[in-house]
Amino acid sequence: MKIFNLSIECYPVAKVGGLADVVGALPKYLNKIEGVEASVIMPWYNKPFVHEHRFEVVFDGWIHQFDQTLQVIVMKERTKVLGFDLYLVKIPGLLDRDNPYGYWDESQQFIAFQHGVLHWLSAMKIRPDILHCHDYHTGLVPFMVENCPEFSFLKGVKTIGTIHNGEYQGQMSWQMAKYLPWFDGSKKGLLDWDGFINPLASMIKCCHEFNAVSGGYMAELFENFRGLESLVQQEHQKAHGIINGIDTEVWDPMTDSFLDFNYAQKDAAKGKLKNKIELCEEYGLDPKLPLFSFIGRFAVEKGADFLPEIVRKSIQETFGAINIIILGSGEKGIEYQLSDLSYHFSNFALDLGYKEYLSHKIYASSDFLLMPSRVEPCGLNQMYAMRYGTIPIVRYTGGLRDTVEDISTGGNGLNFTEASADAAVHGIHRALHIYYQKDLMKDLVQSNMSLDFSWEKSAETYLDLYKM
Ligand code: ADP
Ligand code: GLC
Repeated sequence: MKIFNLSIECYPVAKVGGLADVVGALPKYLNKIEGVEASVIMPWYNKPFVHEHRFEVVFDGWIHQFDQTLQVIVMKERTKVLGFDLYLVKIPGLLDRDNPYGYWDESQQFIAFQHGVLHWLSAMKIRPDILHCHDYHTGLVPFMVENCPEFSFLKGVKTIGTIHNGEYQGQMSWQMAKYLPWFDGSKKGLLDWDGFINPLASMIKCCHEFNAVSGGYMAELFENFRGLESLVQQEHQKAHGIINGIDTEVWDPMTDSFLDFNYAQKDAAKGKLKNKIELCEEYGLDPKLPLFSFIGRFAVEKGADFLPEIVRKSIQETFGAINIIILGSGEKGIEYQLSDLSYHFSNFALDLGYKEYLSHKIYASSDFLLMPSRVEPCGLNQMYAMRYGTIPIVRYTGGLRDTVEDISTGGNGLNFTEASADAAVHGIHRALHIYYQKDLMKDLVQSNMSLDFSWEKSAETYLDLYKM
């Protein structure tokens, strides 16, 4: 079975968040299953990985987008270094940028990617069994395959859509239709939602099956999907929930080259402490205190707007008995408030930016990881944390509720239900209580590290979906 994953991010080529981790791991694990050939197609970016690896050009052609003729160059990585074939699509002016997001003409950029991919496959008569589309950026593909004469060679190819984040739907005005490849105008309704072109809605309407990245989140989408509730209810026969795995080869405290000290489960307490001492020294924190951390995008869906109050209240209420370290960036208002707090509280360290190496060090060094998310389709941080023997404190939502069970019911982490700073601070107080029960803490570290979040099981579930 030949599967092409279409995505705007893929680790380690270009990563902004969990989408990259999933797309960089799922095909690798699918390829371990006999008879499966999974690859990734993504835009070309001006990134180190692209310059440091060797590619061969497999296609050079042209597409028409509105009043422009655009060159499309497809390159294939030569050595399958990632465990799957990786194809990069370059379109000078649109798909040759530094980053996946943040450009004023992003809609046009994503349309060009989808158009370029389908043009290449049609022109070269490459017909996969499955086109697996990830998030709204590739959500127009199921529509295009069926309704654009330019891709008639691909008509009938099965399409799967994965919703990593329903908060972003790629909605654009109908004026943008001029950038789409020519399509049968009588099918406009398949692109439309509420008077706009909505790529995520179109993906749900046109694909053969779709899934969200956890069962918990899929269930929530029926109730709250930023206006698409009735659509998902109507298409419920096609809906699935498949929890993400983690790449246990990349995320392994025994071999992780980003760590100062590697450690196995049996020497976790010692190994974690050594890492913690190193990290605390670097950030001027006292390693004798419990270390709480947050890693992620400063966005409202992540509950990042609660962070300033969480930092202030938890440090004040515990009379400085805890350390907090935060790594992330995003909304400027949150960045300013946290920067300000980091000057006032010596127990609080802030690192603004995106630092892959530091995230690994923090997972390894922390005692507890905090995730006060309002919305969390799956969440990978809590699984990385547990793999590194760190206890997650999470809001009970989406994928977090599927992966973290509260210690009070025999689980390995701490849950809270209300989306508020106070509820998270209460979680920190509970954690502190656990921290000082040394045996309990040790048991939790051990049992967290033995949990299995590997991709093998979910890759099989995706295969079932493809077979369907
Ligand atoms: P999302 O994709 O919604 O941001 P996930 O939990 O699925 O959330 O995945 C986030 C991924 O991005 C994890 O691999 C996490 O370690 C990483 N990450 C987030 N912010 C940063 C950062 N500032 N520096 C390094 N890694 C980060
Ligand atoms: C999205 C979600 C996150 C999920 C990730 C990978 O970015 O916000 O919860 O883990 O996709 O599926």
